[in-house]
Amino acid sequence: MSHVRLVNVTKRFSDVTAVNGLNLEIGKGECFSMLGPSGCGKTTTLRMVAGFEDLSEGEVYVGDRLISSPAKNYYLPPEKRDFGMVFQAFAVWPHLSVYENVAFPLRIRKLPTAEIDKRTKDALASTNLLSAAKDSPDNLSGGGKQRVALARALAINPDVMLLDEPLSSLDPHLREEMRFEIKDLQRKYGFSILYVTHDQAEAMALSDRILVMKLGVVQQVDSPLDVYNKPANRFVFSFIGLSNFLDLVWDGGKPVILHNPLHATHGQDDEAVIASSSASSGENIPLTSELTPSEEMVGAKTFSLASRPSEIDFTAEGGLRGVVSRKAFLGEIIDYQIRVGNQELRVQKGRRAPGPERGENCGLKLLRPFWYA
Ligand SMILES: Nc1ncnc2c1ncn2[C@@H]1O[C@H](COP(=O)(O)OP(=O)(O)O)[C@@H](O)[C@H]1O
Ligand SMILES: [Mg+2]
Repeated sequence: MSHVRLVNVTKRFSDVTAVNGLNLEIGKGECFSMLGPSGCGKTTTLRMVAGFEDLSEGEVYVGDRLISSPAKNYYLPPEKRDFGMVFQAFAVWPHLSVYENVAFPLRIRKLPTAEIDKRTKDALASTNLLSAAKDSPDNLSGGGKQRVALARALAINPDVMLLDEPLSSLDPHLREEMRFEIKDLQRKYGFSILYVTHDQAEAMALSDRILVMKLGVVQQVDSPLDVYNKPANRFVFSFIGLSNFLDLVWDGGKPVILHNPLHATHGQDDEAVIASSSASSGENIPLTSELTPSEEMVGAKTFSLASRPSEIDFTAEGGLRGVVSRKAFLGEIIDYQIRVGNQELRVQKGRRAPGPERGENCGLKLLRPFWYA
């Protein structure tokens, strides 16, 4: 049975629909991430689940229990939901010791003193903070402060953890380390997680499933592997991992790569955009025979051939022909910019793999092409 369930949840702020008809189910003990660019409605969703924001429409359940429904005029206040919460900002009380920061919510709940002490010490031990118990959180680093916030959330023994970009303010090294700590804590305590982030690597590393959101609308819900390997649309493809797009049209029933990329259409109709792309210097480039557009592209005025920089091989003979316009050594990998007509493709290869030099012609083999109309 699902643990947290959102049914047709919509949130409108005067003229903005922040969340639009959202359905999602989080399984018991699952780590479920919401991923999307800034402003797509992640925090608003989390705040509705937490009870800090009411819904315009829809319902939220925990197990069988309804906790929010504007239609039924029902709303369980946040303090009765007993969710653990950690936000991006280091929300710790500087005038309380680390110990008291963690114990405070338990004191509010008026638990017996011995129980408060036990739970506080357990949570501090789980987050490696026992030795800092008497310190002011102000003496701790950003990572330390986020650990205090985590410990405070853990101490209430939540069934559900709501985490809103909890690692965004940390430096990259610490961020990676804390991902593993959160996973370890989840294994130990068994809570379900709703994790909000705009960082796709973080979502991939942590999650059992990822929901990708754009402008308040769900684009895809899948395992990290499937979101990466079977993106539901162009937006998901471009948001997860590195991506290339080449713009194509049909010419006499044959697919051709436009010499110039299509630019934002700003009110121009397709014909005008295609005309202006085709007009200036250079011929459109016939697509090589090993690349066949998928069925859905037939009938599309313009469409895109998408690929990942890591899924392109260089080939001496044949392939899509291009010229190396830039070659950068990034340590473990070499990053190539390849010009096909006036369009650009990125290719990434291990630093030991042979490859062309800047200015040289090369052939490209797209190992896993995707097509988007
Ligand atoms: N209290 C509010 N009043 C008006 N608009 C809001 C409010 N909170 C969020 N929004 C708007 O709702 C949209 C989603 O915001 P938010 O949920 O914070 O996105 P995210 O967390 O994905 O960055 C944005 O357009 C934002 O400007
Ligand atoms: Mg946010």
